[in-house]
Amino acid sequence: MSKDNQSNHSSQDLATFAKKKGFIYPSSEIYGGLAGFYDYGHLGTMLKHNFQNVWRKFFLDLNQNFYEIETANIMHKNVFKASGHLENFADPIVHCAKLAKNKNCDWSARADHLLEEHTKQRAEDLTSEQLTTAIKKADLKCPECNSELQDVETMNMMFPVNLGVGSKGSGYLRPETAQSPYVNFKAQYELQRKKLPMGLALIGRAYRNEISPRNLTIRLREFTQAELQIFFNPNLIEEHEDFESIKDVKIQTLLLEDRKTNKIVQRSASELVTKHNLPKFYIYHLVKIQEFYLNHLKIPKTHIRFYQLNDKEKAFYNKFHFDIEADLNTHGWTEIGGLHYRTDHALSGHQKVSKTKMEIFDEQSKQKFIPHVLELSFGVDRNVYTLLDLNYQKDQKENKDARGNDVLNLPKSVTPFTAAVLPLVKNKQPITNKAKEVLKLLKDNNVKTFYDEVSSIGRRYARADEAGIKYAITIDFDTLALDEDSDPKLKDTVTVRDRNTSEQTRVKITDLIKEIS
Ligand code: GAP
Repeated sequence: MSKDNQSNHSSQDLATFAKKKGFIYPSSEIYGGLAGFYDYGHLGTMLKHNFQNVWRKFFLDLNQNFYEIETANIMHKNVFKASGHLENFADPIVHCAKLAKNKNCDWSARADHLLEEHTKQRAEDLTSEQLTTAIKKADLKCPECNSELQDVETMNMMFPVNLGVGSKGSGYLRPETAQSPYVNFKAQYELQRKKLPMGLALIGRAYRNEISPRNLTIRLREFTQAELQIFFNPNLIEEHEDFESIKDVKIQTLLLEDRKTNKIVQRSASELVTKHNLPKFYIYHLVKIQEFYLNHLKIPKTHIRFYQLNDKEKAFYNKFHFDIEADLNTHGWTEIGGLHYRTDHALSGHQKVSKTKMEIFDEQSKQKFIPHVLELSFGVDRNVYTLLDLNYQKDQKENKDARGNDVLNLPKSVTPFTAAVLPLVKNKQPITNKAKEVLKLLKDNNVKTFYDEVSSIGRRYARADEAGIKYAITIDFDTLALDEDSDPKLKDTVTVRDRNTSEQTRVKITDLIKEIS
């Protein structure tokens, strides 16, 4: 990550870069693409997997009783009857009036987004009626044919799936990964010796028929979520055994009361508990999420905040809801995850519809209850976008001191490759052999390494910078003391060039692993 990112790229610059380097590009592109679907090339796939691995390690390590599961993407229709998604998971949609008259314009858009673009104010909390009134007042017309717009309606966002022969809509593609841990709760609880809190983490696909997919991977119809569902005793929400260790940590918050100024306020964990009546169990996890972003993804503090939602904005199943937001160069503050206190909403719903008892007898407290759920929810594709956006430094062509190529300052924890091995010349023994030896040394020590011998060394440095490779390691004539005038002290050393500074240092091959780890 550049110190405090100075890049001034547009979303189009980033999309062009992501495609050119093979990070992310439209799916089915040879057929013109499909709105809301993107593919990851090999660099993008490595970046995404690395993010997922950092996430997995950090959040599963929070408690010995947290586990990862993997589950089906298509689920029983009744799962979504129980969860409330069949009834409530809908977005406001506005159509061109010509559509109703079967005339030749079928334009439609998400009504709150249309209004937000016009007023530059959040409209998430408005009802369909309020949106209709506001759109009329703003005199918004169809952008395609300039006709009037219809009244705002709601559209359910789930994809039904026909399973087998002649069965209409018997299953649904899940719109969130969360329901899978909920329907697995009973079995897992019994397997894990009936102990709370218990966490079930899941990294998997979610599907939503978004009305207006847009902004590369920010709003997709098929996307990946990384979610941790923590099942806990609701009578213990005011406690967390490790709260003392984080009580003084300052959190980047924007509470409802800060909306007037729209400024982030740093509040300590204990202040959020005592002055703002937020439960310790909730705040502990808010702190951990912040730690994940600052320490493990190296996002600058000024680019991350927790945004409290009001009753109308909150998801229908939440009692407390903070969005995790990142300040993107391309789109400003953007939701990339959330911390959701979902109470017993889902488990009670599943108990009612499936007739499976979700109420438990908790041996530790000797109490009977339906466990409550704290959900740590992350959109993986939005997080990958965030990493690209905040670490991308566009080539400053107009600046004569610039290095002349794009750079991706990804942190080592997620960058696709940590090192590149570059023999100074191609196919020349013994340089090539030495380079392959260095490559093996790095790989044997689990350093993600790329080997590149094609084109000039300058071009290869540029390629490494653009792929986010932190160290470019050059094996040259001095490494083998091949030149008559080679300094004998340089034998068995390589040049290590740092991506962020372009500085080169000479390092002994035997010290290489220590130097770059
Ligand atoms: N289980 C809770 C849940 O699904 P959400 O706020 O609807 O909550 C969680 O989604 C995260 O998933 C969001 O914060 C966002 O990062 C990501 N997400 C949601 N819809 C998305 C979409 N259409 N495209 C890409 N990511 C999306």
